Amino acid sequence: MAAFDSHADYLTTPLGHWRLQRYPLRANQLLQAWDSGDVLLHQHLAAQVSTFPLLVNDQFGALAVACQQARIAAMSDSYISTCGWQHNLKINQLDPEIVSVTGLAEVPSGIDLVLLKLPKSSSLLEFQLQQIAASLKQPVQLFAAAKSKLFTPAIRALFERFCDHVVVSLIEKKARVLSAQLRPLVAAAAPPEQLHCWQDPALPLQLCQYAGVFARNQLDIGARLLVEHLPPAGAEQVIDLGCGNGVLGLRYAQLSPASQVLWVDESYLAIASCQHNIALNLGSDLTKYACRVDDCLSQQADASADLVLCNPPFHQEHTITSHIAQQMFRDSKRVLRHGGELRVVANRHLAYHQVLERLFGRVTVVASNPKFVVLSVRR
Ligand SMILES: C[S@@+](CC[C@H](N)C(=O)[O-])C[C@H]1O[C@@H](n2cnc3c(N)ncnc32)[C@H](O)[C@@H]1O
Repeated sequence: MAAFDSHADYLTTPLGHWRLQRYPLRANQLLQAWDSGDVLLHQHLAAQVSTFPLLVNDQFGALAVACQQARIAAMSDSYISTCGWQHNLKINQLDPEIVSVTGLAEVPSGIDLVLLKLPKSSSLLEFQLQQIAASLKQPVQLFAAAKSKLFTPAIRALFERFCDHVVVSLIEKKARVLSAQLRPLVAAAAPPEQLHCWQDPALPLQLCQYAGVFARNQLDIGARLLVEHLPPAGAEQVIDLGCGNGVLGLRYAQLSPASQVLWVDESYLAIASCQHNIALNLGSDLTKYACRVDDCLSQQADASADLVLCNPPFHQEHTITSHIAQQMFRDSKRVLRHGGELRVVANRHLAYHQVLERLFGRVTVVASNPKFVVLSVRR
């Protein structure tokens, strides 16, 4: 096992020494921007000859900083990750050419090594393996790392569908590395269905989504409570923040056809799903609607919205956290016009009531059930 400095922001492995920060930057950050899976992958990177490696789900750039190649491909569904590795390359004065592969983009030809961190969802892993395999002319060496407990029999079987010579290492520092030869996808083989579509019996909406997007087969129970308790029609500028497949904004747009709606998410595949669902459900005049990848509302002007609808996340990849929700609430306060409303659904145990009260003052409980609560605050 490579030695690494677990103090502060500095990672040291046989490949080098770097400063690495989690993104977005936060004061008093206690979590590191790398894990032992990254350190294990550094060992494999050191032992391989490669001119054009592909890094998959490199959350904050712990893999990118270690690559000596002038050209790297980086595949991720996360806007925050793409900001994270750009930030960490910059603070380490590294400037490789990065071919960024996000959303539905094709993997460039010519990659000769794949280093992959397991994503949170197995459907996203399947999608990514398929996208990479489709770009290959010949088998390529792949190393995948994660916490040991994430290498379930189902994940191993998934790799075996796409790869030969699958071997999983022993546990080191609670992580494992799977090594395998990823096969080119046979052109004649039918590609798996990329969009998964479903109809909720209680909603006049057809919802489709790409792999890894929140609530794959059915409406989330929190989202349902908020859909059932949307504010009255009439808000002019509406934002669906952390939109996933777009269900909240889509339903509001149906009930309030004059509203302008913006859907925002940090997942490229969520935004691609949303674009599809807008065209599918909101008819031919789409000029009132827009979608954007962003970290919360960092790109949105102050005092530019009348209503924000939000079912906030409580994970950043594999890490449980409330900091994204809190940033969403702060950003909502900044972008709401005077009198504008933020309407949030949350799991009861998360105590967002207090967070919102500190930020906005009075909080109204619009609806609740044993698990969820819908809260409303005004600017
Ligand atoms: C609980 S899901 C809600 C999805 C959808 N609104 C619904 O109700 O079904 C939270 C969403 O927030 C997105 N998200 C996570 N972090 C984000 C961030 N920093 N900025 C914007 N969206 C984010 C996730 O990708 C996910 O789609």
